[in-house]
Amino acid sequence: MTTRTRTLGTTGPQVSALGLGCMGMSGMYGDADRPESIATLHAALEAGVTLLDTGDFYGMGHNELLIAEALRTAPAASRENAVLSVKFGALRDPDGGWSGFDGRPAAVKNFAAYSLQRLGVDHIDIYRPARLDPDVPIEETVGAIAELVEKGWVRHIGLSEVGADTIRRAAATAPIADLQIEYALVSRGPEREILPTLRELGIAVTAYGVLSRGLISGHFTPDRQLAAHDFRAHSPRFQGENLRHNLTLVDSLRKVAEQKGVTVAQIAIAWVLSRGEDIVPLVGARTRERLGEALGALDVTLDAADLAAIESAVPADAAAGDRYAAEQMAMLDSER
Ligand SMILES: NC(=O)c1ccc[n+]([C@@H]2O[C@H](COP(=O)([O-])OP(=O)(O)OC[C@H]3O[C@@H](n4cnc5c(N)ncnc54)[C@H](OP(=O)(O)O)[C@@H]3O)[C@@H](O)[C@H]2O)c1
Repeated sequence: MTTRTRTLGTTGPQVSALGLGCMGMSGMYGDADRPESIATLHAALEAGVTLLDTGDFYGMGHNELLIAEALRTAPAASRENAVLSVKFGALRDPDGGWSGFDGRPAAVKNFAAYSLQRLGVDHIDIYRPARLDPDVPIEETVGAIAELVEKGWVRHIGLSEVGADTIRRAAATAPIADLQIEYALVSRGPEREILPTLRELGIAVTAYGVLSRGLISGHFTPDRQLAAHDFRAHSPRFQGENLRHNLTLVDSLRKVAEQKGVTVAQIAIAWVLSRGEDIVPLVGARTRERLGEALGALDVTLDAADLAAIESAVPADAAAGDRYAAEQMAMLDSER
């Protein structure tokens, strides 16, 4: 039972210290096995994982319908503790392509209406725009979510991949529980300006890509064949020479993990857990086996010598390649 909890900011809910990110269950990392996805969600709830993260655009509603089914078929005792974090705003096309972001107030309410229906719930616990819509002031997008909070359809407001200025403007509009952002041994950008800003404002972090989408999980091999629709087939970090270099970092990290008697994934997750009580890693497990491994990170304690060994194995900024392809990097307010 995962009894460890963390609180999302000064105004947000209490959640399990590890959250489950469900994106990979809807095709973002190649095909997923539906019964195994449901079994993984059930196992997570059973183990005390309460925070489940999704987006209405993950498989164009597929991910929300999957979570709804898992909640419907889970034992009531584990289901009622679930805290649903939902992202909206990313626009898709029938070919699975991406065509921008919509943060207009009317769109926010429309997205929420569909998500509530698909999820089969009467409220969303944390609702957040996936990206800043460059054509809509953040005050308008957050203001629309605040109206949903007032009406009881949403409990808390979150943000995703925005920078310090936008965080401040959002927090001046309504209470913000957390920022979702990529944060990992190989993705330490938030440490510069974003983390100090969040701490000043009492806003937590839900960290994604903690295993850099599997790259630093210890399970990724250079010969792995990626489907064309797998995000990693287009991610700079997984290409050619970058991949080769990045996997040498994993080899170094493996030595530290072996000395501790833990796995590479566990030490990478434990490192993020060690960064502060205000940080909740979202792990992208989509099988019970991977989930079990990830949960093992909660039992890993890192002392100063361990942290020094980890950071010497994977120094900040050591990763080769940006965390997104150029077109997607350009949409990250957090990288400005
Ligand atoms: N706000 C945003 O912009 C944003 C962006 C991306 C993701 N997210 C959220 O964050 C969640 C986590 O992100 P992510 O999926 O990229 O994170 P991740 O945990 O870094 O990567 C998941 C990948 O790691 C592999 N893996 C290997 N060992 C694992 C283990 N023990 N536990 C978990 N995964 C293991 C998985 O394996 P297999 O390939 O073997 O299944 C999967 O491909 C997503 O599901 C989504 O909810 C948010």
